[in-house]
Amino acid sequence: MLETAVEFIKGKIGEFKPEIGIVLGSGLGELADEYCDCAIPYSEIPGFEASTVSGHKGRLVFARINGKNVIMMQGRFHFYEGHSIHKVVFPIKVMRKLGVENLIVTNAAGGVNPDFKPSDLMIITDHINHMGVNPLIGPNDDSMGKRFPDMSEVYTEKYVNLVEKAGEKLGISLQKGVYMAFTGPSYETPAEVRMARVIGADAVGMSTVPEAITASWAGMKVIGISCICNSAAGVSTVGLSHEDVIKAAGDAKEKFKQLVKEIIKEL
Ligand code: HPA
Repeated sequence: MLETAVEFIKGKIGEFKPEIGIVLGSGLGELADEYCDCAIPYSEIPGFEASTVSGHKGRLVFARINGKNVIMMQGRFHFYEGHSIHKVVFPIKVMRKLGVENLIVTNAAGGVNPDFKPSDLMIITDHINHMGVNPLIGPNDDSMGKRFPDMSEVYTEKYVNLVEKAGEKLGISLQKGVYMAFTGPSYETPAEVRMARVIGADAVGMSTVPEAITASWAGMKVIGISCICNSAAGVSTVGLSHEDVIKAAGDAKEKFKQLVKEIIKEL
């Protein structure tokens, strides 16, 4: 199935060789509207599923941005949609097979660190997989990665520094921290958020970790950026809603786009 998807996409994009992959999270998909040389709806690609979440468009977008060939996922597959974990990471494997070396994964997240406020952007320095599942379970494709891959530097210091510098250059202040993934779709309880904080998380969300594990396994360098859309449950007294999350992502989208474009330039 992987080869079928790769061949299908190659047939559409011809000579275009993507170097950088970007997964655009909830409410952050606008970059792919602004820069779009070619787009393929997920529904057309063998092995892909249609996206079911509002705020996610569901297409692969190809564009040249700041001198680099970029492939963007405008919308991703979430485990909570009922997709198998292997479906969730299938596009990452496809990107790798298409030649992508660097992956930028982005998401909307809840702030666990009390210093974070809505619309802050956080550079992911590490993650905690609390989804109870690992995308590498099953037979290992030795041509892509090792059976027992090292995860000690998924988000390399060099790239964290690169993002920090990009932020400084643009005058965008950035937070840094650990992202912890829950399956969702229910938001966390205050007790779960307290647990997240105790074990070292700064933000919680429902994505990114499966993709980052798969990308690292397959030899890609990973940059992770969370848009802090709300204070996680119990951190503030305000209740949570998807609408508020999308609104906060909207408030952050201009600086988010600037930052991602600068990162592309520097990569
Ligand atoms: N928890 C989990 N996922 C999220 C949150 C949250 O508080 N906000 C946005 N995505």
